[in-house]
Amino acid sequence: MKKWLMMVVSAVLLAGLLSACGTSDKSSGDGGKEEKVLKMGTSADYKPFEYIDTAKSDNIIGFDVDIAKAITKKLGYKLQIQDMEFNGLVTALQNKQIDFVLAGMTPNEERKKSVDFSDIYYSANHLIISKKDSGIKTKEDLKGKTVGVQLGSIQEGIAQDLKNKEKINLKIESRNRIPELIQEVTAGRYDAAIIEDTVAKGYLKNDKKLAGYEIPVVEEAGSAIAFQKGSKLTKEFNAELKKMKENGELDKLIVKWFGADAK
Ligand code: ARG
Repeated sequence: MKKWLMMVVSAVLLAGLLSACGTSDKSSGDGGKEEKVLKMGTSADYKPFEYIDTAKSDNIIGFDVDIAKAITKKLGYKLQIQDMEFNGLVTALQNKQIDFVLAGMTPNEERKKSVDFSDIYYSANHLIISKKDSGIKTKEDLKGKTVGVQLGSIQEGIAQDLKNKEKINLKIESRNRIPELIQEVTAGRYDAAIIEDTVAKGYLKNDKKLAGYEIPVVEEAGSAIAFQKGSKLTKEFNAELKKMKENGELDKLIVKWFGADAK
C-alpha cells in the first residue's frame, strides 16, 4: 500500500517537474532564440473572418486568424489573440495594448489619422439586410425605418451619410456585435441592418426569411491589417502579405473560408 502510494506521488512529482521544465524552457528561452509575442486584437463576431464555433471549441478561428498565423509564423513571432469589441480596437492599438488588428477592418481616412494600415487583402460590398416580406430593397426604401449597424464600423458611417447627406430620413441603431443586429432584424425590432456581403451571406444562407440587397453608390469596403502609427510591423507584414498573394497562399485561404466561387 505504502509502496504504491510512493510510486504515485513520485510519478506526479516527476510529471510536474517535466512540465515545469517544458514551459520554463520556452519562456526563458535561454540559449535558444526567443520568440517575441505579437498581440492581435479582433472582434470575433465576424464569420468567416473571425468567430468562435462554440459547438467545437472556444478558439477564435477564421480567415483573418489564418492570415495572422501564417504571417507571424513566417516572421518568427508567437501569436496571441485578444477578443474585444470592434469599437475599441483602434483605441487599443493607440494605447499599445495590442500590436495589430485583424478584424475585417476597412482602412478609411478617419482611422488613418490614428493607425497605419497594410495593403488590402480582401474586398467586400455593403448589403442592406431585411426580412423578405419587408419590401425593403433599396436605400430609398429605408426612409422612416430603423436601421441597425455595428458600433464604430464604417457601416455606421454609411447609415449616417444616408441620413445626413442623402436626406433619407432613417433611424440609426447600433450594437456591438453582428449577431445582435441579425437578431434584432429577425425579431422585427429593426427594419434592416447594413452588413458586408461576405459576412451577411452566411446569415442569408441560414435564414431564408432574410434578404440582402447591395447598396450601389458607396465605395467598396476592403479589409486591411491595422498597426500602431509608425510601427515597423506594417512593412514586415506587407512583404509577407504580398508573397502570399503571389504564391497562391491567400487564394487558398479565400477558398477555404469563403468558398470556391469567392476568389
Ligand atoms: N469593414 C467594416 C469596418 O471596418 C466592418 C468590420 C467589422 N469587423 C468585425 N470583426 N466585426 O468598419
